[in-house]
Amino acid sequence: MVIQLSLFLSVFSTEIHARKFLKDNHINTNDVRLHISDRLVVIDNGLVEVTIENPSGYLIGIKYKKMQNVLERRNHNSNRGYWDIVWDGNSYDKLETKHVEVITQTNDIVELSFTKTWNSKNHGKTIPLNIQKRYIVRRGISGVYMYGIFERQEDFPKAHMYQIRIAFKLKEDKFRFMALSDTIQRVMPRSEDRVKGHSKPLDFKEAVLLTNPSNPKLKGEVDDKYQYSTENKDNKLNGWISDHDSVGFWIMTPSNEFRTGGPHKQDLTSHVGPTALSMFVSTHYTGTEINTFYKEGEAWKKVFGPVLIYLNSASSKDDDHRKILWNDAKRQLSEEIESWPYNFTQSEDFPHSQQRGQVNGQLLVQDRYMDKQLMQAKSAFVGLAPPGEADSWQKEGKGYQFWTQTDEIGRFNIKNVRPGVYNLYAWAHGFIGSYKLDLDITILPGNKIELDTLIYDPPRNGPTLWEIGIPDRTAAEFFIPEPYPQYVNSITNDGADKFRQYGLWDRYSDIYRDSDLVYTVGTSNYSKDWFFAHVPRKIGDDRCRPTTWQIKYNLQDVNNRGTYTLQMAIAAASFAEVEVQFNDPNSDRPHFTTKRIGYDNAVPRHGIHGLYRLYSIEVPGYRFRKGSNTIYLTQTRSDNSFEAVMYDYIRLEGPNSLNN
Ligand SMILES: *[C@@H]1O[C@H](CO)[C@@H](O)[C@H](O)[C@H]1NC(C)=O
Ligand SMILES: *[C@@H]1O[C@H](CO)[C@@H](O)[C@H](O)[C@H]1NC(C)=O
Repeated sequence: MVIQLSLFLSVFSTEIHARKFLKDNHINTNDVRLHISDRLVVIDNGLVEVTIENPSGYLIGIKYKKMQNVLERRNHNSNRGYWDIVWDGNSYDKLETKHVEVITQTNDIVELSFTKTWNSKNHGKTIPLNIQKRYIVRRGISGVYMYGIFERQEDFPKAHMYQIRIAFKLKEDKFRFMALSDTIQRVMPRSEDRVKGHSKPLDFKEAVLLTNPSNPKLKGEVDDKYQYSTENKDNKLNGWISDHDSVGFWIMTPSNEFRTGGPHKQDLTSHVGPTALSMFVSTHYTGTEINTFYKEGEAWKKVFGPVLIYLNSASSKDDDHRKILWNDAKRQLSEEIESWPYNFTQSEDFPHSQQRGQVNGQLLVQDRYMDKQLMQAKSAFVGLAPPGEADSWQKEGKGYQFWTQTDEIGRFNIKNVRPGVYNLYAWAHGFIGSYKLDLDITILPGNKIELDTLIYDPPRNGPTLWEIGIPDRTAAEFFIPEPYPQYVNSITNDGADKFRQYGLWDRYSDIYRDSDLVYTVGTSNYSKDWFFAHVPRKIGDDRCRPTTWQIKYNLQDVNNRGTYTLQMAIAAASFAEVEVQFNDPNSDRPHFTTKRIGYDNAVPRHGIHGLYRLYSIEVPGYRFRKGSNTIYLTQTRSDNSFEAVMYDYIRLEGPNSLNN
């Protein structure tokens, strides 16, 4: 008690001295101040003090309230707050820079740029990019904005840039509580809990069973960073709380324009470390189908960010401090979203609001087998992305994308679009396939483009004979089993997050022990009788074998000369192949095969979808018979449990019965 009191007094008196000094020298403590030395750059606004190594541009310290550094002091300077890129196989570059430039310095704002120009002498050694890492501290904001401007020139060599992100390693003995959403938050294991002697690795190294964690309450739980992934559209806020200090550390991403792969691309957030990530580019949940390869001579420039690193605090007496900090972080996030695009950045590569354009319109759907009238595409996703095929935005990894959702009557307004050439894409809940407007849309500064009513004509050849699932690009509506009691991660207790549990894939072999899944149209219920993933069957510890699912259904009439269509929408695929047979499971060649598809790894990474694919499979009427029929779906690949597909939706259509 005595020691604490004297410590308190000494801190208190230094602070008084400091204030007196500032006052005597007419310095307002709320001004933003910059101090540059040979080794360090310090920016301070009276709320936070941000220290960046000079000239590497590594963020090495954030002082906030009583915390001298919210980042892990024991880590090397390059391993606290940094950008990194994984490129060309397993090369790794932390974007260490060579110079610092003061871009703006007023009492209200400081913007710095840490820069490096690529030198061909470093061919093969450093990522071929010219780099600017920008930091901004503003008056009154307890945090630091970060953005990066990366550029390839025409004489740069080829490079595959698989992953681009900012990572933070927080003070390990302080930040124990992680929060990603209203429901996904909890006290986390510590990094030493994941090492040998304290945990057991499971089927892959990212997943461990905590056998002897420092916090006994976590014993018997699974930890895997992929359980905390989120879709881009929801990945706006993630961070950690130090209960001891009642301090929160948050990454805020007010816009997705600089992320890749569209609104449904999933990525990492925060995980044991304590680590907090801001992911911009990755192959997670897409595999290398996402296009991140740059040819020799391919010029490119892109702005990633800004994102805000935000600190907040509650009174330490507050029992409720976690809730207070989380709610305050959400409040600040809405402010950031409101003020997007930021008007305080200085790079000409980040256009402000008046330099951007917008596109308005209304999306209707025409499917005369569902409704004779045009239907309003309610809550459809509509976006502008670089020109390509319909659905190319899922694999688009280089440009900017701007997405919104339509209102009740299908109207949309895509705001704050950067100048450039785009295509307009959409997909609507409840309808298969993907819309693309056959028109290049050129956005110029200040443009306001009004599109006519757009009509989406989803793939459809005839009336629905039966259907399984909901066209929503996920397998979430299907049967998701309970996790093994010995492999639970309690962070995903919430029903909608059940798919995040470890080991669900092996449940298939438990449930369908003797024979594979058979679904009977009319009596089966897809939420109970359709397993969420078509996985191989486990036979013994390391062996698997292919599985064949059957769909049984009755046809009252068959039009022998008509053409039927099986619409098969797939929500995820990894090294998988689905062969489709109609009534004859043993014919030499399948009626249809997807061939080998996918690398999205959605099954082991606890995603409920990866990349979307649609197959419209035509079948001549003579393949069917009056009365009972069976479709056989064989997933032929079975090297391991993760060679699998997830279906989104399956529909059998009869021959065309509408006269135009
Ligand atoms: C910048 O944006 C903020 C918040 O949206 C606004 O209050 C402010 O007036 C803007 N400043 C300028 C110079 O446009
Ligand atoms: C299918 O099963 C789900 C989950 O048990 C249930 O909520 C739903 O009502 C069932 N649907 C039908 C048509 O029986």
